[in-house]
Amino acid sequence: MSGLVAGYGATEVLHGVSLCVERGEVVSLVGRNGAGKTTTLRSVVGNVAPSAGTVTFRGEDVTDLSAEATVRKNVAFVPEERRIFPGLTVAENLQVGRLGGGDTAEARDPEAVLQEFENLREHPDRKGAALSGGEQQMLAIARALVAGADLLLLDEPTEGLAPFVVRQVEDLVRNLNDEGIAVLLVEQNVGVALELADRHYVLDRGEIVYHGTSDQLRENGEVMDRHLGVTT
Ligand SMILES: Nc1ncnc2c1ncn2[C@@H]1O[C@H](COP(=O)(O)OP(=O)(O)OP(=O)(O)O)[C@@H](O)[C@H]1O
Ligand SMILES: [Mg+2]
Repeated sequence: MSGLVAGYGATEVLHGVSLCVERGEVVSLVGRNGAGKTTTLRSVVGNVAPSAGTVTFRGEDVTDLSAEATVRKNVAFVPEERRIFPGLTVAENLQVGRLGGGDTAEARDPEAVLQEFENLREHPDRKGAALSGGEQQMLAIARALVAGADLLLLDEPTEGLAPFVVRQVEDLVRNLNDEGIAVLLVEQNVGVALELADRHYVLDRGEIVYHGTSDQLRENGEVMDRHLGVTT
């Protein structure tokens, strides 16, 4: 995305955000509360209409596509609030994912996707409401994959999860990336971002204020302290 300006009503939240995720990469977008991370992801998937700038995916301008049309391009968004259906079983949640999904040729078989999720595959008949926070997060990601995903946008996937569950989500993201899925990862937990991503963009008040590799970011005490609130 290049020079993206977006907001809500008269309030401009993003003031010209440019970032890119190459094929097969994991890239993080980190920043404090209210920096505009979620708004950035929403702009990519067409939930927020940018007033300037462009979003391109595989060389194609997708800026003005609707959310539905973007999913059909195999860009999948897993929002912060993990919108799974509590009254439906694991298997049913995945079936629903298929309905909204990408071109049928690209969509994945729910059964096959389920096999990749250790915690879910044992309990396909369990209701969404009966799942732990970590399992719900896994299910939300699984559902996005069923729809077909070449680029996965994850909004704070580890929020509120116990440390050992955070490790499971990390393993899952790594495995998906090994299969060739590119990931744009929004995280408040800088440790998770450093662990998973190759490159990092730091967003502060709607502007990218830093870009670097994990090693570079880790060693940059000023950025960590000033923009991320991490004392090094
Ligand atoms: N639906 C909305 N309507 C109006 N303003 C909004 C809306 N959603 C977010 N905002 C505002 O836009 C700004 C950026 O919000 P955004 O959710 O993108 O930040 P964020 O970096 O994802 O924050 P967090 O870490 O809390 O999730 C904030 O000031 C927020 O209050
Ligand atoms: Mg957010």
